[in-house]
Amino acid sequence: MYAIRLTTNPRLFVFSTLRNYSNNVRIISNSFSTKIPTSHEPLPESHRGRVPTNIWEKTNTNLHTKPNHPLNILRKTIESHIQNTDESCMFNMNTSLSPIVTSEHCFDDLLVPSDHISRNASDTYYIDDNTLLRTHMTAHDPYLLRSGMKAALSTGDVYRRDTVDRTHYPIFHQMDAFKLYQTNSLIKSKTRHQIENDLKNVLVDLAHTLFGQGAKFRWVNTYFPFTTPSFELEILWNNDEWLEVLGCGLLHNEVLEKSGLNSDEVQGWAFGLGLERLAMILFNIPDIRLFWCTDERFVKQFNDNFHLKDMKFKPFSAFPPIEKHLSFWVNGQFHENDFCQTARAVGGDLIEHVEVIDRFQRNGQESLCFNVVFRSLHRSLTHVEVNEIYESLRQQVATNLPVTLR
Ligand code: PHE
Repeated sequence: MYAIRLTTNPRLFVFSTLRNYSNNVRIISNSFSTKIPTSHEPLPESHRGRVPTNIWEKTNTNLHTKPNHPLNILRKTIESHIQNTDESCMFNMNTSLSPIVTSEHCFDDLLVPSDHISRNASDTYYIDDNTLLRTHMTAHDPYLLRSGMKAALSTGDVYRRDTVDRTHYPIFHQMDAFKLYQTNSLIKSKTRHQIENDLKNVLVDLAHTLFGQGAKFRWVNTYFPFTTPSFELEILWNNDEWLEVLGCGLLHNEVLEKSGLNSDEVQGWAFGLGLERLAMILFNIPDIRLFWCTDERFVKQFNDNFHLKDMKFKPFSAFPPIEKHLSFWVNGQFHENDFCQTARAVGGDLIEHVEVIDRFQRNGQESLCFNVVFRSLHRSLTHVEVNEIYESLRQQVATNLPVTLR
């Protein structure tokens, strides 16, 4: 699925029956004897397992439900659009599903192959061997289907170990939807065609609502383990760049069956989109860290009552970056994401960008040099404070990663 990540960048988805539903969700993980709280309740430290503190601390933030936050504004716009597409079908709107899921829900139930990269500990925040912070909102769909829902739209924070730059952050937000249709084996192929059309119409309408009636878009065939056929919707941006904005498809028969449905009687569509990516495009937000900043100069620019089109972010002054290089020999199993994670843990949001700038082999050993760009969104950094962070990053890297500093 993450051959194409529907996240924030080009590399890669009414009303509260769901509050009750999220109570049910508490029992989805069997590796805890205690109940798993909804994301609106603080996740207790005792559940943190192997997740780094700097990530765990953010599990209770819920940016997608914060009044006047751009992600919340976008979520509500999309929710009401989807609900209005079909008055006879009530979508269950979920905003408080716990981000703790089992690998069964996140991967197995969705037919993600056992050797798929998204399952690796270098890509995913595992709590223990079988429990993790969800890597996509689709993780909830089989459970929601099993609980009898016919249509749902779920929004939440998802977690991926990733590179560090202006469009990647280890936590981002997705909206995932599905809708079921009654069918029977005789008319199944016809119905599947109609369902595909319905899906595409809903999403093209959504794209028009968000990007304006004149927006140009195209469908691209793609692959997700849990949908077939699968598509991406791309929008022509600034007349010169095709941007992928969402992934979708018809739910795989086996996913339906695994969710307790008879695929001869029921078919359905699903889609998923990354909210930060959309919000960055729509509101001209240049750096993904801004969503987390509480600086008034950012916060004040967004309001639940403003019209979507009237919200264009006006950058406050850009502060100068400070760059540092860090080189080491790799001794064992090392993944670049491990370095990025360490940098985020030590430098937090003061780190704007991390990149390998030099790589060579000598006597069978690999040497890497990372460039780490420090830049605050709010103020000028001093060399003294950056040097301090840099020294503790060197120390952490030397202690916790299988490398020898050069
Ligand atoms: N879960 C997919 C992702 O994160 C997106 C998706 C959702 C695609 C539903 C198809 C259907 O990349």
